[in-house]
Amino acid sequence: MDQRPTPLRLTGYALAQVALAVPTVLAVVLVAVGGGTALLVVGIPVLLVGLPLLRWIADRHRAMASATLGHPVPAERLADEDLPILRRLGTWGRDPMTWRELAWGLVSASLGLALALVVVVLALGVVTLVLWYYATPQLMRLRSVADARLLSRGSHELLEERVQVLTETRAETVEDSAAALRRIERDLHDGAQARLVALQMNLGLARSLMDTDPTAARELLAEASTTTGAALGDIRDVVRGIHPPVLADRGLAGAVQALALDLAVPVSVSGDLAERPPAPVETAAYFAVLECLANVTKHSCAEHAWVELDRRDDLLVVVVGDDGRGGADPGGGTGLRGVARRLAALDGSVRVSSPAGGPTLVTLEVPCESSSPRTTPSSATG
Ligand SMILES: Nc1ncnc2c1ncn2[C@@H]1O[C@H](COP(=O)(O)OP(=O)(O)O)[C@@H](O)[C@H]1O
Ligand SMILES: [Mg+2]
Repeated sequence: MDQRPTPLRLTGYALAQVALAVPTVLAVVLVAVGGGTALLVVGIPVLLVGLPLLRWIADRHRAMASATLGHPVPAERLADEDLPILRRLGTWGRDPMTWRELAWGLVSASLGLALALVVVVLALGVVTLVLWYYATPQLMRLRSVADARLLSRGSHELLEERVQVLTETRAETVEDSAAALRRIERDLHDGAQARLVALQMNLGLARSLMDTDPTAARELLAEASTTTGAALGDIRDVVRGIHPPVLADRGLAGAVQALALDLAVPVSVSGDLAERPPAPVETAAYFAVLECLANVTKHSCAEHAWVELDRRDDLLVVVVGDDGRGGADPGGGTGLRGVARRLAALDGSVRVSSPAGGPTLVTLEVPCESSSPRTTPSSATG
């Protein structure tokens, strides 16, 4: 699948690594000295030189390790953009990646340097060229594996982060289901239950009037029939709010098409899901689309809206777009935040792009195998 670099290119990496060994030592020393004297203020400018240098060198090695191994070696640092310089320094100090990079610097400038030197020396001798050709990929692989290990977050850190995410989403899910139950209870109480009570009274009255005033009794019975219809309608609405029958019957694409037909704004639905996503994913995606389309009619002043459904491997991707005035902001209401919460429980995410003047694009992504942990950070908004 990937193209492995040639021995010549690997030797180029080895040369670069040898050349970067001295700056690495320099950066480690600067960071150590700066860190030791930061409280005396003099250390701060030293840190401001040392840390970016160390990060830059580490990033070069990440790139080389990634090219050698054929998979990405991301720098998973804490976000520090838009921070004033001193706060940024604080963030760097708290970032476990800084400490990893320091430890890596020590290993890189000793054992790593030795490996890279062996490759370079082998390449220089005519007699050793054969050895160079065969040994270089192994040696550079060894070094790259070590670099990648030291410069990426360990499984312990990834697990910790995953536990944190799961704890948060679980609390939100519990809260959401409690709220949903309360809503269903209220809807049943105020709707169907109230109508059934009226129905019971009407029927009782009709029975007592049956002999004395049959006309009034007949009127009451007609009223009772209307009330029964309304109560059934209420119950249907409640059921639709839990799990719409159209979703069960026709799947996500069909249910979204049915939704689109009911709206004031024309909505085109494209994409077909060959395979139906698991039921919880389908339901969450359906209610997310429902909220987005409700937003289109409520807030966007759009003339046209569209829904694109797509399944990319194990990811359900739904884009809801409109050509309205833009300015959608998950912080500005409760709807989009609720969608983000509901999808987060399934490891999904919501991205909103809505510049002033439009168009608004809301991208919903939900993994279809909900048990598969997603360890890459998702860009959930809201
Ligand atoms: N499609 C859209 N076009 C323009 N503005 C939108 C759109 N969707 C949402 N917004 C804006 O973003 C805010 C947040 O949306 P939402 O979280 O759904 O809250 P609300 O409960 O007000 O619908 C809305 O109040 C609205 O101002
Ligand atoms: Mg809304």
